[in-house]
Amino acid sequence: MNNLLMEVENEVAVVTINRPKSLNALNSETLAELDQCFGEIAERKDIRVVILTGSGTKAFVAGADISEMVNATPAEGRKMGLLAKEAFLKLETMPQVTIAAVNGYALGGGCEISMACDIRVASDNAKFGQPETGLGILPGFGGTQRLPRLVGKGRAKELIFTCDQIDAQEAYRIGLANKVVPQEELLDTCKAMAKKIMSKGSYAVSLAKQAINTGMDTDLASGLTLEANLFGLSFSTDDKKEGMTAFLEKRKANLTDF
Ligand code: CAA
Repeated sequence: MNNLLMEVENEVAVVTINRPKSLNALNSETLAELDQCFGEIAERKDIRVVILTGSGTKAFVAGADISEMVNATPAEGRKMGLLAKEAFLKLETMPQVTIAAVNGYALGGGCEISMACDIRVASDNAKFGQPETGLGILPGFGGTQRLPRLVGKGRAKELIFTCDQIDAQEAYRIGLANKVVPQEELLDTCKAMAKKIMSKGSYAVSLAKQAINTGMDTDLASGLTLEANLFGLSFSTDDKKEGMTAFLEKRKANLTDF
């Protein structure tokens, strides 16, 4: 991989988008590498949480690569959008929990890839925004779809129509960021959150993720049916037996299913 770094420690993968000279902008090669990387992680049982970040202290990801897009044809633009769609859907639907460690600018495609993660933790210098309409295009890596789902239609429209950049506190206020922490504590905060999540039943967490993701995109009755079905499925696991027995025996549960 030319544009990504990955380290796995204690079942947590830290994936770093590594194009610091262009503030980690996403070109087609990086999108293809992300697609491959997320596909491979989804199959791995030795990774239970993924932390996605950008290299350096200035930017998480400053967007799609404008120098690549400037001369792109409509067909090439569409191809890039579809490449991002596939890669980001793999990120969104992988069984592992995904945390975006937003360590600076998360603009355009950067804001969009963070929104395909389950949770966003922002450093206090982070800035979020969708500057695309100022470039004569619209958000093309999921911004028109995931931003309204996260912050509501009115706020999403305002951000996309005005291109306003918002700081980490404002992102927290509107529900785009789950937490804001000093930059030097960002990775440790994400790792501590990963550890807490991994102390729960990882298979149960992945079923809950599936129920939430699918349920948000369907009607309530279908979502509730899916939840009941997955609830039933969770009764088939060793973790269910161990978790409930441990509670009744007043001891700490040792949950291992994934
Ligand atoms: N694509 C390509 N190169 C980029 C880039 C991008 N999205 N963002 C920054 N860079 C490059 C700059 O061109 C510059 O390169 P040089 O050193 O070779 O000149 C380098 O990164 C450093 O950037 P700046 O000098 O601009 O740094 P700054 O501190 O003055 O500003 C910034 C930082 C506010 C993030 C500014 O770089 C910026 O506005 N970047 C573009 C943000 C943007 O518009 N993103 C949306 C892209 S479109 C998109 O994402 C479509 C979509 O929906 C997927």
